[in-house]
Amino acid sequence: MKNTNAKNLPRLNGNLEPQILKEAIKQFKTPLFVYDLDRITKRYNELKEAFGGRKNLICYALKANSNLNILKHLHSLESGADCVSLGEIKRALKAGIPSYKIIYSGVGKQDLEIQEAINLGILFINVESFEELLRIELIAKQLNKTARISIRVNPNIDPQTHPYISTGLQENKFGVSIEDAKAMYIHSKNSQSLEPIGIHFHIGSQLTKLQPIEESARKIASLTHSLIALKIDIKFFDIGGGLGITYNDEETINPYDYAQAILDSIRGLDVTIICEPGRYIVGNSGVFLTQVLYEKNNSNKRFTIVDGAMNDLIRPSLYNAYHKVVALKDLEETSATDVVGPVCESGDYLAKNVLLPKLEHGDILAILSAGAYGFSMSSNYNTRGRCAEIAVKNGEIKLIRKRENFEDLIRLEEI
Ligand code: LLP
Repeated sequence: MKNTNAKNLPRLNGNLEPQILKEAIKQFKTPLFVYDLDRITKRYNELKEAFGGRKNLICYALKANSNLNILKHLHSLESGADCVSLGEIKRALKAGIPSYKIIYSGVGKQDLEIQEAINLGILFINVESFEELLRIELIAKQLNKTARISIRVNPNIDPQTHPYISTGLQENKFGVSIEDAKAMYIHSKNSQSLEPIGIHFHIGSQLTKLQPIEESARKIASLTHSLIALKIDIKFFDIGGGLGITYNDEETINPYDYAQAILDSIRGLDVTIICEPGRYIVGNSGVFLTQVLYEKNNSNKRFTIVDGAMNDLIRPSLYNAYHKVVALKDLEETSATDVVGPVCESGDYLAKNVLLPKLEHGDILAILSAGAYGFSMSSNYNTRGRCAEIAVKNGEIKLIRKRENFEDLIRLEEI
């Protein structure tokens, strides 16, 4: 079988050429995450331009990749932040993102987190249940403040994505029904401690079909019209995140079609659009580099054992997610192999049944599209230090997070 890997590599785009990756490895070893900041800029600008015709704010979803350097970079592009914990809010602020561009979402917020969000004066809190609304009201009252809120409405639409990352159906734990949302808005309007200023929906992640988003936006826009008729002043129309990317060769949504569908749905409404993209901004901008330890055959099945593992990049193990694997080696002949890590679990793999050339100790594999939900979901399982992270900008390599060493791993433990 012919090796198409070398040809695939330029799909990494711009600065992440093999030479740069090899230089990064020389300096910082493997396993390693490398991010292309120029590509992040390009993705951010694409989305920003697509919504250009309307008032809009892009609130980057930190959960996809919350490295402070990436956040600082996005802040320099004027991005806001979608946060799901006090930790993420603090990260956004530390990167310089002003509180008026920060929104706070999540299905279970702690009292302290709500308190801090109100005290910090963030743009609004996305509320996910009546119970939570009452809690926020109580905390705001105790603080003698008014909490700006938006309600996450579950439009009950199938997003046609992986069930683990689908959130817009009634059977999911996220948001409230249209009927409940109405009652919550009326309650908020009548409260001294709550100010309802937004409406929110997010139906899932890695969305590659426009129709479910379009349908949801129309449903939520129609609810917005009826709220405005009730003199509830909705200023922000928060469409969530979820825009899918290409991992293999799947067709996904063009940002202009996406924006157009949203703009069509909100015709007649004077609202600022808020969008919460994570994966779209950073997913294809990152690559995970791992080194081959050795190859082995078990009953004629080929395994390529590498130094990266499920604790570094859990998406294949957790969702059976596909990440393209490219060998930084120019050999013509390839055969099928499973790329597996050293962790003691059968589920520890990075790729299954992929065509790769014969590999030797020290050869490098690039696992593509690892910029989103890669490092941010990594762990210390098997007492493995988390990887170093590198940013590349204008062809220059910069360390943006050191590799964790043994001392880092045991620092908080007491004997
Ligand atoms: N807004 C809300 C309310 C969300 O729940 C999420 C993602 C986003 C925005 C950003 O979604 P994105 O634009 O990145 O698709 N770990 C999974 C993805 C989980 C997504 C959770 N919520 C994965 O690796 O595929």
